[in-house]
Amino acid sequence: MSIRLGDIAPDFEQDSTEGKINFHAWKEGKWAVLFSHPKDYTPVCTTELGSVARLKPEWEKRNVKVIGLSVDGLTDHQGWSADIKETQGTALNFPLLADGDKKVSDLYGMIHPNASDTFTVRSVFIIDPANKVRLLLTYPAATGRNFQEILRVIDSLQLTDNHKVATPANWKQGEDVIIVPALKDEAQIKLLFPKGYKAVKPYLRITPQPAPTASEK
Ligand code: BEZ
Repeated sequence: MSIRLGDIAPDFEQDSTEGKINFHAWKEGKWAVLFSHPKDYTPVCTTELGSVARLKPEWEKRNVKVIGLSVDGLTDHQGWSADIKETQGTALNFPLLADGDKKVSDLYGMIHPNASDTFTVRSVFIIDPANKVRLLLTYPAATGRNFQEILRVIDSLQLTDNHKVATPANWKQGEDVIIVPALKDEAQIKLLFPKGYKAVKPYLRITPQPAPTASEK
């Protein structure tokens, strides 16, 4: 059965470059980005892992832990880590799961047999602090992912969890947002959106991004 949005992310125990990981305990109370890549010692994956490592301050700012996975073993991961350090201007600063037995790949449906029987595809799971799956993405092997987009989605999820808003196409932090159509009460709208809103259509109401609440700061 495939994993869907809103499901509880399956828990697992697996070896990693930072020792044994019990997934739910490891991420406790935090957001997580779990992502797979096809193989160690491959060029696109090398650039992806460098990118994710360079974004460490951005993950931390958002209370996110990141964790990679491929179906190679720890020895390969360790040798490849040295190459990443040498070529990407940063060392790995997050764990890489060594999923040689495909335990986690199978649990999360990261192997798509019609793409490859043996390698994981480029899957991304954004998982919230309550362990719910909030985003699923699948990229093909030859296309490196845009991790700024992953950060953008996390910004949207964290904002829309805390305010009665949704974010429009291509939205970025600080830009105008949409008041959710279910919110109709004008007194409540005034209270929640003191800067007012523009009704382009009755169902399309644009307002400045709300200020963070005390718990978001
Ligand atoms: C890569 O990471 O460069 C890659 C991996 C599998 C197939 C194609 C490219």
